[in-house]
Amino acid sequence: MRLQLSTWQEVDAYLSRSKGIIIPIGSTEQHGPNGLIGTDAICPEFIAKGVAEKIDVLVAPTINVGIAQHHLGFAGSMALRPSTLIAVITDMVASLAHHGFERCYFLNGHGGNIATITAAFAEIYTNSSLHSPEEDFPLRCKLSNWYMGLAVQQVSKELFADAEGSHATPSEVSLTYFAHPDAIKKVAMSPQRAPTGPVYTALDFRQRFPDGRIGSEPALASTDSGEKLFHAAVRDITADYQAFLRTR
Ligand code: NI
Repeated sequence: MRLQLSTWQEVDAYLSRSKGIIIPIGSTEQHGPNGLIGTDAICPEFIAKGVAEKIDVLVAPTINVGIAQHHLGFAGSMALRPSTLIAVITDMVASLAHHGFERCYFLNGHGGNIATITAAFAEIYTNSSLHSPEEDFPLRCKLSNWYMGLAVQQVSKELFADAEGSHATPSEVSLTYFAHPDAIKKVAMSPQRAPTGPVYTALDFRQRFPDGRIGSEPALASTDSGEKLFHAAVRDITADYQAFLRTR
């Protein structure tokens, strides 16, 4: 069930059955020569839809732009400041809590968002502890990174081993190809495996990683691999989300 495709009466009815919601969150940033700029948002959104086809869960609109200043040396990348993303997350969660949602499950597709999402949760709990110290606020938030699920990690390792790398990975590119077969790009890459190194500013990033990849070989990506990763991710996230609903 998707929030954007529901009526308010349907959301009312859903809240009588469940207080949980999945909020996909990603980034709009370059993903190397054959990866889509929307990769980090497309992946969690696609997985969330897959989970919603298996269980009764509402999926919120995807937060499509995230922490990506280091990708601004490449055309099309967009970045939020950490303070902006914290404000977006806290306001979205406050809106959902206003209607009675108590379990906000952030399904993330971008490693660069992790620190800021965690800071946003600290902001939310601080508001609760400072403003209502006598009464425990029932709201709980959880961060889950789809690419770190156990089943996904196992499939990635079998398919790509060390060629996975850390940015513009063959796993995430494969998943977007399965989601959008009409957007597949075939591009020659050199070197075959991208260099690795630290991440600082946009200018420094472009110099270290000239085609945008870090340590990866996304030329190995395929829709078949994307399909395997999709089913693994749906298994991982369905189980993890259901466990989150059961926790106090
Ligand atoms: Ni990515």
